[in-house]
Order: sequence, then structure tokens, then C-alpha cells
Amino acid sequence: METDTVRQAYTSVAQLYISLFGTAGHVHPDDLAFIERHLTGRPGRVLDLGCGPGHLTGHLRALGVDAVGIDLVPEFLAHARAAHPEVEFQLGSLERLDVADESVDGILAWYSLIHLPPPELDGVLEEFRRVLAPAGRLVLGTFTADEVGAFDHKVTTAYRWPLDEFSERLTHAGFREVERLPRPDDDTHRPHAAMAAVAV
Ligand SMILES: C[S@@+](CC[C@H](N)C(=O)[O-])C[C@H]1O[C@@H](n2cnc3c(N)ncnc32)[C@H](O)[C@@H]1O
Repeated sequence: METDTVRQAYTSVAQLYISLFGTAGHVHPDDLAFIERHLTGRPGRVLDLGCGPGHLTGHLRALGVDAVGIDLVPEFLAHARAAHPEVEFQLGSLERLDVADESVDGILAWYSLIHLPPPELDGVLEEFRRVLAPAGRLVLGTFTADEVGAFDHKVTTAYRWPLDEFSERLTHAGFREVERLPRPDDDTHRPHAAMAAVAV
């Protein structure tokens, strides 16, 4: 999907998105614990890629992580900078990071890979691997299903993945999965999962 399409879609709902999801208190405690388990206590920089309103970047920073947020949507970045003035936020895209090879210690991609058409996932995971130092950690959130497929996400078309297939893509890009936290659907959520992988 064109990044312009994703940018425009999130720009048109940015204030609503911020009001519904823009604090760490809106994140399930199990997910927050998963993110903290893998991305805190690391000496180097952690990128929150597709940071949206920046609440998880701010949360990591409050826990002592050198976290930097990157997103496509200027409205999200304006909010993030106002809400978390101590944190650096940059305009950028997942596809081409303005970041040196093997220079970061962790990446959070929390539901920010969901709009990538399946053929584009490998290239983005390879870009993540390029900037991560060996043994660096990647944590992501994704929607899950028995087969790869598009669905009608409220903002713009998104894709869901079987976790084993996602894990294979990670392996192909130079990662090794170290933990997954799958959750079935409930009244308000589609099946979704967190996954953590190490750069090998
Ligand atoms: C579902 S939101 C998640 C935002 C945030 N991580 C959170 O947990 O609330 C997806 C985010 O990814 C960003 N995004 C999607 N595709 C992107 C891309 N190619 N480059 C940079 N950001 C992207 C969107 O702008 C949006 O902020």
C-alpha cells in the first residue's frame, strides 16, 4: 500500500485515534509487560517505529529507555512532542529508515506493520534487521488468522497473519523468534498477538 494512502487515512482520524488509544493506560497490561520484558534494561537506543501518538515511546522513556519515535503522520508527531517533550520524535517511514547500520538495540513495531501488503513485509523486516545491532530485540504486535489476508480495518486496509508464517518471515530476514503472546478474539478485539525476536 502506498505510504501516502496510510498517511492520509491516519491523518483524517488522528484526533479520534489519540483520544481512544493515545495513552499507555489503553494498552493491555499483558502487552505492556511483554514490551517491557523485551525492550527495557537495554543499553542502546530503541526505535518505536510507527509510534502514532507516542504513548509507548513515552512509556519506554519513563522506564529509562533511550526511546525515539518515528511515524508518517505529522499530526501524531505534533501530539507526541507536546505530550512527551523529553522524547525525540521524527517524521519517517518504515521502508527506509534514516538510521545507520546496526546502530540500535531495540525496535518496537506495535501494530505498525499491519497495513503492509504481504509482498512488502520482507523488505521492511530486512530494513529493521539492517539497523539493529546483533542480539538486538524486535517486538511487534499484529492481527492473526489461519491464512494471510486483508481485512477492513477501521482506518485503512490491513492484513492478518498466521503467527508461524510471520515467524518464518522473521527467520528469513535474520531474526529468531524468542516469545509470542497470542490472544483469541473477544467481544471487542480481533485475534491478535505480540511477538518478540532477536537479531541473529
Ligand atoms: C495502528 S497504528 C499504531 C500506532 C501505535 N504504535 C500504537 O500502538 O497506537 C499504526 C501506525 O503506524 C504508522 N505507519 C503505518 N505504516 C507506516 C509506514 N510505512 N511508515 C511509518 N509509519 C507507518 C501509522 O501512521 C500509525 O501511526
